[in-house]
Amino acid sequence: MSEYVERTFVALKPDAVKRGITGEIISQIEDTGLKIMGLKMVQATDQLLEQHYEEHVDKPFYEGLAEYMKEGPIVAMVVEGVHAVENMRKIIGDTDAKDAHPATIRGQYAHMSMDHADESGGLYRNIIHASATAEEAEKEVGIWFSEDELHEYQSSVESEVR
Ligand code: PPS
Repeated sequence: MSEYVERTFVALKPDAVKRGITGEIISQIEDTGLKIMGLKMVQATDQLLEQHYEEHVDKPFYEGLAEYMKEGPIVAMVVEGVHAVENMRKIIGDTDAKDAHPATIRGQYAHMSMDHADESGGLYRNIIHASATAEEAEKEVGIWFSEDELHEYQSSVESEVR
């Protein structure tokens, strides 16, 4: 496999599920040509979140972040494709929705700022997560998926470039 083909972890967060926009978001991801290798609905637990957000557990916002992520199920996905990590981060937009370009997923479906959430003591909801680096992606895929939940197949896009 090409060194440029990567897997990344994507989570459609509880606010995306509750708002009924997961189909629209998945459709946008598929439209880029990136391939879904794994997809499931999961209720996040403290144990899963402490592993997933390992570097943030001691930060002041962690309690609110965990509360938000447990508000309902998430749709967890493994997405594969050329530069999948960088491409997915570009598609989802800046972590702070107020800075996200309007064409990105956060830019289209969110507007809240971290500053406002911090100041008001509210939860900071930003629709979607995608791994920041290839190393983070490998770790996160391992936390949320077992090998037998990942499906190998050739997508139409892959057939076209061969
Ligand atoms: S990123 O996008 O992963 O590079 O961002 P990073 O700063 O490393 O991750 C922060 C994650 O915590 C979520 N979060 C907050 N960050 C900062 N301030 C506040 N108040 C806050 N509340 C929640 C933020 O959305 C990042 O999670 P993900 O799931 O990546 O969006």
